[in-house]
Amino acid sequence: MLSDSVRSEIQALMGQYPQPRSAILPALYAAQRQIGWLPNAALDEIAGLFGVEPMEVYAIAGFYNMFYKAPKGQFHLEICTNVPCMLRGAGDLVAHVQEKLGIKLGETTADGQFSIDHMECLGACATAPMLFARKRQSDWGRYYENLTPERLDALLEELRAFAAADLPAPPMERDPAGPYHHDHHPETNFLLARIDRPASHTLASYQAEGGYAAAAKALSMPPQAVIDTVKQAGVRGRGGAGFPAGVKWGFLPKDVFPRYLVVNCDESEPGTFKDRLIVEYDPHQLLEGILCAAWAIQAHHAFIYVRGEYLFAQQRLQAAIAEAKAAGYLGQGIFGSDFDLEVIVHSGAGAYICGEETALLSSLEGGRGHPRLKPPFPAVAGLYGRPTIVNNVETISHVRHVLEHGADWYRQWGTDRSPGFQLICLSGQVQKPGVYEIPYGLTLRQLIYDLAGGTLDGRPIKSIIPGGLSMPHLLPDKLDTGIDFESIQAAGSMLGSGGVIVICEGESVLDVALRTVGFYREESCGKCTPCREGQGWLEKSLQRIRKGEGVVGDLDNLARFAKYIDQQSFCPFGPASVWGLQSLLRQFRPEFEAHIALSNPDGEKPEIPARPIYRAYTGKPLKNVLD
Ligand code: FES
Repeated sequence: MLSDSVRSEIQALMGQYPQPRSAILPALYAAQRQIGWLPNAALDEIAGLFGVEPMEVYAIAGFYNMFYKAPKGQFHLEICTNVPCMLRGAGDLVAHVQEKLGIKLGETTADGQFSIDHMECLGACATAPMLFARKRQSDWGRYYENLTPERLDALLEELRAFAAADLPAPPMERDPAGPYHHDHHPETNFLLARIDRPASHTLASYQAEGGYAAAAKALSMPPQAVIDTVKQAGVRGRGGAGFPAGVKWGFLPKDVFPRYLVVNCDESEPGTFKDRLIVEYDPHQLLEGILCAAWAIQAHHAFIYVRGEYLFAQQRLQAAIAEAKAAGYLGQGIFGSDFDLEVIVHSGAGAYICGEETALLSSLEGGRGHPRLKPPFPAVAGLYGRPTIVNNVETISHVRHVLEHGADWYRQWGTDRSPGFQLICLSGQVQKPGVYEIPYGLTLRQLIYDLAGGTLDGRPIKSIIPGGLSMPHLLPDKLDTGIDFESIQAAGSMLGSGGVIVICEGESVLDVALRTVGFYREESCGKCTPCREGQGWLEKSLQRIRKGEGVVGDLDNLARFAKYIDQQSFCPFGPASVWGLQSLLRQFRPEFEAHIALSNPDGEKPEIPARPIYRAYTGKPLKNVLD
């Protein structure tokens, strides 16, 4: 079924990785590009090429959203409906596209031209509402952002013309060309300083501003001195956990090689879209950071795991790597030394869980993105069982600046425990959503009102999510909280990935809760029972309330099930999936109760399932765990 050229392509892909199996996801993409979807016969052939059981490849293909098990239309339109997009009119967009095409979500037009689906956050929350369009049997895919009904009509016409007249593909760069809104505090303009320069993504532009001088300096230092500098600067991980990067690097076991560097560009926490800006508009900044970090930990292979929908970012990274290689900044004998470094861009395929570092490694090894038990931590046994450092794109980009200016320079901003500055993604109902480069300690009020111009129509704020959708909501009385790891935690939430989502009065907390839970139900990897089953229970309860069939006891059950998921799940996804709901139930219970009272005044308490729920590993009834 696979063409000779696809078979050869897969063989070549297998040779690019230290272990050929890592090429399974790229192989699935290659097969899908040829056929348009992935019939079992194609999966059987891929299994044969990799020497694994067909069932294994079926399981992998079935795990990821971006692999199709049935044919789609010529264009697949995926409309983001996650909370930040919902707050900016995604519901109207869905209604309009359904009406315009005469089909429902999940369907294909009779002429086979368009399929439409809803999608979860695509890393474009500041330019919501948006959709992602992919063309069948091609590598073409593009974001359409800031959509209105008129712009949507125009894009449908553009795609029809593209298909009918065999026109050149519309550029994959977003429209209008150029980076989305970004700004900075007057004192901190480093990570985004070059974003608006003409051709900022090219090596020529980067070199003209001193590019790769920091890496040259790093390579002139002993590796341990680079680690010490990053440790002294106190650079904390920007992917969510906030763990100090230099300390993490120090966990690598001595004299165990090979080691790997893995850069997490899966960026799928709803409300987070900063890494996309770096890789699309200043990819050499990231590559220079990678070179510094790889030298520090003495890794000769670095992988950038990029979420599958970031096609334009992948294109930009591949081009930047080729340029850097040709200039001697990557590849063999870098800066005339005997240090070699290969950087591989690896595409994810639509699975939120792959943002979790061990799930990402499982995916990079060519498997389902299932998390692994920790310990051992990846620094000890990571990719292919070898010592591996996993850092986020922004974290690695900071390294380049720390190496250039030194640890004391970095520590002039922020607080003792949260030194430096950070990219904050601001979305939701504010005047100027976008990415803001700010020193730690700036308050939420300064960010929202001084930098971003306040809320839409000056509406009062109802709640703020300070660190991406999974973090607990804060009430507006916390607006004077400093944006740093400790202050946000003291206020009752977490800084997470730095995705600040603003929700104004007039929005329904029930809708926010339902959309939040729906996202986690969809994205649960299914490995552990509390998370896999629990999310569905939460969603059904909320749907029942929304339909006017809820009773007040449902709220108690929601809290009980959320606590169970929080405490009994296998990986951090479980707790993170319910923190938002738990905080809404705590802070807005009267609003939930009012909805129930108004919509179902005579409601009976729904039946609790007679069958007891058991803890997976003790066999004790769930009641003992929760109450
Ligand atoms: Fe829609 Fe992020 S792109 S919520």
